[in-house]
Amino acid sequence: MANNFCWYLPTEIIFGDDALAHLKKKAQKFGKKAFLVTGKNFARKSGLLDEIEFLLGEAEIEVKVFSGAIQDPDTKTCAEGAKICRKAGCDFIIVAGGGSAMDTAKSIAILATNPGRLENYFGAEKAIRPPLPIIAIPTTAGSGSEVTRYAVIVETGSKEKKTITCAGICPRLSLVQPSLTLSLSGFLTASTGVDALSHAVEGALGKRITPLSLAIARDTIKIIKEALPQVIGNLSGLEGREKMSLAAVMAGFVINQTGTVIGHGMGYPLTINYQVQHGTASSFVLPAIFEFLAGKGYRERIMEVTGWEDPATGWRDFCRQIDLPVSLQEVGVKKGDLKKIAKEAVANCQRSMDNLELLLTEKDFYEIYRMSF
Ligand SMILES: [Fe+2]
Repeated sequence: MANNFCWYLPTEIIFGDDALAHLKKKAQKFGKKAFLVTGKNFARKSGLLDEIEFLLGEAEIEVKVFSGAIQDPDTKTCAEGAKICRKAGCDFIIVAGGGSAMDTAKSIAILATNPGRLENYFGAEKAIRPPLPIIAIPTTAGSGSEVTRYAVIVETGSKEKKTITCAGICPRLSLVQPSLTLSLSGFLTASTGVDALSHAVEGALGKRITPLSLAIARDTIKIIKEALPQVIGNLSGLEGREKMSLAAVMAGFVINQTGTVIGHGMGYPLTINYQVQHGTASSFVLPAIFEFLAGKGYRERIMEVTGWEDPATGWRDFCRQIDLPVSLQEVGVKKGDLKKIAKEAVANCQRSMDNLELLLTEKDFYEIYRMSF
């Protein structure tokens, strides 16, 4: 554990029933013209887009809407958005959506002020000029992107998921209104919720964990284990939704400080090759990762942070309880593909292996996928 650490979080968080209403006053400090990033449907159909436009109109802020954010955004989509943003001459970005919309907005924020292609900014702190400031309005409870400095983007050519780490893309303001998650389906609620759970667990296993982030991770895990099954049992219950929105923010604090370990990196090839939803993708492999890491000196730590005596079984049972699939074959992964996927995982897990201080081979990754099959 890193006992000497720096904690930096530039995000002002307004959390609660009326969080969105603060947009009118707060946005005025960001400029006169906003670039509003959303997905194709939800924000418009739910009336959220109208509400945001109304609040900005009241604040006399002009808006250019970009409803082109897609799930697992790629470099091409981000470049298109950035072109429109630059042409419109926007001062700041507002994003209303889940993790994918936020990743898109963060990439646009970089390209709006920096030259060249998004690929130039993969890696850590590559931006030359400060990105446009971002206001985030999350509509899921999971990614924690509303408080992180990360954007994960699919490189259009290689089809690999790449991470941009840049303090400048951490939202300056996050308006977290849990009621915005009320219309999420059971599957998306479970999948995004388990994403937040894996952020807290993976973060707590990394070498960059600090006493502060470990304390937050422990509480986050407790909250999610209790609240997520409640929410799945009653999707329209606001109290449970509030707990999950809070837990997602807390898990975001954890990974913003520590990053993830190999669960996320091993999930990326499943999303790319089989379109498995992000949160579910990591959740498939975590039980086998727990078993693998238990043999490498992590047994006590995993038991302690998850609160399960048998963490692999505990995780699978929890996923079953919230109606998520628990094995790769349940989502159509072919056994014959596991070798190819293991090869891709090696590339995806470079940074996270370092966070574990372990060097895993292609054979290790194959074994973990095989155990998850
Ligand atoms: Fe995640």
